[in-house]
Amino acid sequence: MAASKTSYHATIRLVLFCCLISVTLPLEPAPPHYKDLVGNARWMVKYSNVSIVSTHSSFLTGYPFAQNKDVADGLYNETLSSGVPIIYVSPMATLTHDFIKDPRVSFTYSAAFTHYCRSQEIDNDSPTCGKVVLSGLMEKVKDANEVSWAKYGMFARHPATKDWPISHGFAFYKLKIENIYVIDYFGGATKHLNVTEYLSYTPL
Ligand SMILES: *[C@@H]1O[C@H](CO)[C@@H](O)[C@H](O)[C@H]1NC(C)=O
Ligand SMILES: *[C@@H]1O[C@H](CO)[C@@H](O)[C@H](O)[C@H]1NC(C)=O
Ligand SMILES: *[C@@H]1O[C@H](CO)[C@@H](O)[C@H](O)[C@H]1NC(C)=O
Repeated sequence: MAASKTSYHATIRLVLFCCLISVTLPLEPAPPHYKDLVGNARWMVKYSNVSIVSTHSSFLTGYPFAQNKDVADGLYNETLSSGVPIIYVSPMATLTHDFIKDPRVSFTYSAAFTHYCRSQEIDNDSPTCGKVVLSGLMEKVKDANEVSWAKYGMFARHPATKDWPISHGFAFYKLKIENIYVIDYFGGATKHLNVTEYLSYTPL
């Protein structure tokens, strides 16, 4: 009795220990060297599960409006990523109303959306906790292969979205990237990263 109680407690301690390890270890690989701006931008876009999407508000005329959205640019666990943000939205969403009226949007990503900044004890506002802002035009994903790719990434990373009904008009939209702003170190941001180089970067 006493022995099994001891082993029970040992098991509980082991389980708690394992849980603590699994929540404190960073789950993404480390970002590339800060001089590799394109690599850092792609790293943030790949490993962020959410992004802040800014629009021109359709109900607060003249104000910018921003919402936190599920994003995927491919699979988290595989060396497949496109660098192109994809969202899954209903036509009833405020965000959809905004970008249908004015397709110009910006997607803000941060290394703070991964485990990196917290695990390295880097403050969110430090330039070494990277930020990237992709600006461009929202476009509906129509091509069947691209829709399959969008589903593959979104449904694996955000399993709840699988149950959101396409019959209610949920659809995938992607960003046609026109400008990339990025900062990952001291010395100021790069306001116009080369979009071609960003898109042709070897997938992470
Ligand atoms: C990545 O995750 C997906 C879905 O969760 C799974 O089907 C696939 O086998 C995984 N790939 C690897 C390399 O683990
Ligand atoms: C992002 O989602 C993946 C699962 O696809 C998960 O393993 C990872 O921990 C999530 N990242 C954060 C910062 O929560
Ligand atoms: C972007 O990079 C590509 C490929 O390296 C190059 O051909 C192009 O001129 C660059 N564009 C700008 C605006 O610098």
